[in-house]
This record gives sequence, structure tokens and C-alpha cells, in this order.
Amino acid sequence: MRIILVGWGVVGQSFAKIVTYRKKELAEMYGFCPRIVAIVDQKGAVLNTKGLDIEQMLFLKNEKGTISACNKDGHPYMSALEVIESVEAEVIVEVTPTNIETAEPGLSYIKNAFRTGKHVVTTNKGPLALALPALTELADHNNVYLRFSGTVGAGTPILEFAKKCLQGDKINSVRGILNGTTNYILSEMDKKNITFNVALKAAQKLGFAEADPTMDVDGYDAAAKLVIMANWIMEKKVTIKDVKIEGIRDVSSKDLEEAKKKDCTIKLIGSINENLKVEPMQISKHDPLAVDGALNAVTYVSESAGEQTIIGLGAGGMETASAVLRDILDIKQNIANKMME
Ligand SMILES: NC(=O)c1ccc[n+]([C@@H]2O[C@H](COP(=O)([O-])OP(=O)(O)OC[C@H]3O[C@@H](n4cnc5c(N)ncnc54)[C@H](OP(=O)(O)O)[C@@H]3O)[C@@H](O)[C@H]2O)c1
Repeated sequence: MRIILVGWGVVGQSFAKIVTYRKKELAEMYGFCPRIVAIVDQKGAVLNTKGLDIEQMLFLKNEKGTISACNKDGHPYMSALEVIESVEAEVIVEVTPTNIETAEPGLSYIKNAFRTGKHVVTTNKGPLALALPALTELADHNNVYLRFSGTVGAGTPILEFAKKCLQGDKINSVRGILNGTTNYILSEMDKKNITFNVALKAAQKLGFAEADPTMDVDGYDAAAKLVIMANWIMEKKVTIKDVKIEGIRDVSSKDLEEAKKKDCTIKLIGSINENLKVEPMQISKHDPLAVDGALNAVTYVSESAGEQTIIGLGAGGMETASAVLRDILDIKQNIANKMME
């Protein structure tokens, strides 16, 4: 399977490492023999139809700042769109930064990949939060697959748990902690009796929060994930405009003290019922969602199986790359099934 990697950052590099270091095992267990034929970063591209040397690409990025500096196969200034349109491959792995206002550049990359008959695996929430219903239609129209399990829960299979493990059941509602940064901040405020600002600074120092924490603390990251879940799992045709969003900036030490008196804590909860909401809520300390630190947790309430909760880390390069691998194997399986029909 020929793969184009658009983005050579934490997730892109982690994915390439996994498929390189586990090459033999992946071939034996899944008949999966990936060939990374192109990589793109902001400064250009590197192309080789026989497959790129990943160790060399990791070295080049580290030493020269861009893979396009490769003497033999490098193409400085070649854009991702040019690569997607001109290079032959089965799958595009789209791992560029998330932008939930414009969804770009990921949205254009995904659309162009579909137009040129390529399947897409992405970990980028932006295009999905803004246009998932349209993108799934476009993928169907072009007879290709779009997969995105790394967008919710990183390596924790939150989407597959609902889609595959609860297959056949009807999911009536969802409640969950979908953002590790805010969960870390609220956990620290609860444990240490500190203010939001002190906890945020600690999270930034440890690398759990960005210098500009808006996406996380104002609830947009959780809302984007909620939209993906509502579309994919519950077939609701919604976008981020349909979510009522409230972040955690106004949660005070006093609010947490009050909650403690009732054996409760405060968490940023995303919920899907008749409406989609992200808001800080009091929950019992004995609720399965009362997880600490940077964990994510989601409770599905389904018609027959009842309540099921899945818990795991919601970020990390290798973790997210493992979701990309799962998605590609899923596409491979779907293609094989189609050929048997
Ligand atoms: N890291 C995680 O734990 C995690 C978890 C879940 C989801 N995600 C999502 O996965 C995506 C990738 O995350 P990451 O941590 O790998 O980000 P990252 O380390 O910042 O890497 C982003 C990569 O995209 C490249 N890029 C940026 N703009 C581009 C453009 N216009 N054309 C081509 N390439 C471009 C960057 O190029 P340069 O190297 O030249 O700057 C970089 O290589 C994001 O959408 C993120 O939200 C990440």
C-alpha cells in the first residue's frame, strides 16, 4: 500500500516509526506492506516511488528542519496539493495542525485526495468539526474511505468502541471527558485547592497546555470531538455551530469546595442527548467519569448493553499514530471485503 504523509511532525513521524520498526510483524499478521512514497512539510516535499528511507527522513528533519533538503529526492517549495494531485498512492495520511475556524489546510488536502481517488486517514479535527457530513458524502461519491479515529481520544479507541464493539446496539446518549488539558487543570484545582490561573500555568509548564490555551480551556477542542462522535456514531448531521459551549475559566476554588461537600467534583463534560453541550458539571466522585489527570473518559448509554465507559490517554504521538495504523488496516480490510463481493 502506497502512502503519502502530509505533515512530518509528532504524529507523522511516530506513524512512520511504527510501520518501519514493526515492518515484519505487520506483514506477517496483517499482510500489510506499507510504502511511504511521499512526505510533505511546510517547506516542501520528498518523493520516492520505491519508498522513502525513514531513518534518513527523521535525521534530515532534525538536522536541516525540512525533509525537502534531501539531496536525491527532495523538492523544496513543492506544496502538499501538488503532491496529492501528482503522486500515485492509495492513502493520504493527513496530519497537519488543527484549525477549527477555517479547517485549512487540512480541508483542501482531504477534498483533493478524494478527487484524485485516494483514501484519507486524518487526526486533524478541524475539517471534521466544520464539514464532516459533507466530507463523508464526498468520500462516498468518490468511492473512497475517510477514517479519523485519532481525532477523538488519540490512541484510546473511543470511536471504534461505539462503532464496532457496540455494533448493532442503539446508542441513546453520550457523556464524556474529551479534553485531557482541562481535566488535568480541574484535577489539580480539586486536589491542591489552587485557582484556575495557577493550575493553568502548571499545566503549561508541564507541556499539557499550549501557550494559547483557548482551544482547550474554552471548550472548543471538546466540542469538535463531540461533533465527530455525533456524526459518526449517532448519525446526527451536525457541525460545531450546533454545540452549546462553555469552558472552565469561570470554575473557582469555591465551586470545587462546594462540590466536595457533596462528595462530587467538577469536570468539563461533553454530552449528546437531544442537544450537544460542552460545560463544566458537578459529577459524583464515584462516577466512572471521575478520572484524574490528563485522562479522557466516555460513557455510552445504549438501548440493550446499558452503560459502558472507556477510559484512556487522550494525546501522545505514538498513541495517536497507533490510531492511524488501525484506520489504515480498517481501510485495507474494507477494500479486501469489497473485492470478495
Ligand atoms: N500530538 C498529539 O498528541 C495529537 C493527538 C490527537 C490529534 N492530534 C492532531 O494531529 C495533527 C498533527 O499533530 P502533531 O502533533 O503531529 O502536529 P505537529 O507536530 O505540529 O506537526 C504538524 C506537521 O504539519 C506540517 N504542516 C503544517 N502546515 C502545513 C501545510 N500547509 N502543508 C503541509 N504540511 C504542513 C508541519 O510542517 P513543519 O514541520 O514544516 O512545521 C508539521 O510537520 C493535528 O491536527 C493535531 O491536532 C495530535
